[in-house]
Amino acid sequence: MKRVVIGVTGGIAAYKVCDVVSLLYQRGFDVTVIMTRAAQKFVTPFTFQTLSHRKVYTDLFDEGSYDPSHIYLADHADLLLIAPATADVIAKMAVGIADDLLTTCVLALKAPVMIAPSMNDNMWNHPTVRTNLAALGSRGAMCVAPDVGYLACDRVGAGRLPAPEVIVAAVEKFLGPGEGRKFAEGQKG
Ligand SMILES: Cc1cc2nc3c(=O)[nH]c(=O)nc-3n(C[C@H](O)[C@H](O)[C@H](O)COP(=O)(O)O)c2cc1C
Repeated sequence: MKRVVIGVTGGIAAYKVCDVVSLLYQRGFDVTVIMTRAAQKFVTPFTFQTLSHRKVYTDLFDEGSYDPSHIYLADHADLLLIAPATADVIAKMAVGIADDLLTTCVLALKAPVMIAPSMNDNMWNHPTVRTNLAALGSRGAMCVAPDVGYLACDRVGAGRLPAPEVIVAAVEKFLGPGEGRKFAEGQKG
């Protein structure tokens, strides 16, 4: 089964990534979610745990585990998808900051990285963000470009996270289709 580790960062579009996780799960991918501290202000780990059917990782210093999570998760991934990717995580990745579980995992990773940035249009067009994105692109990171459309700051512009189906299609284009899952019709038991 193809393994997708999804890094969820603290953008308002984090709620859309619930659907990305569910769709990938339904299509037969093994999905494991890492959340930043800011992401947990928008969506709870419990939501992702339920949708992915897996433990959600939030803490670099997990005292309940002797196996460092950032190494386990990095070794576990066929693809690391970061969605939504904040301006902050893009900047950290561009310079190699590793101050939480997700960014430390990024440095320990051999698998490819795909980012789906999402932010206010002025942030998206900021020269620093553009420079950081170019740096990631030059190192092979794939990017699902944001749409132009309604933004949560109540204006229209570039920076809107694409629909979940678009992000899932980008993952499947890269990894190939999932194995699918069979679900019983009607009630369990
Ligand atoms: C209501 C609200 C919405 C936000 N939405 C975004 C966003 O869509 N994109 C973004 O880059 N930052 C956004 N931020 C700012 C990030 O949460 C902030 O930069 C944070 O430090 C990101 O941390 P992380 O990258 O570790 O998740 C938002 C902040 C608030 C308070």
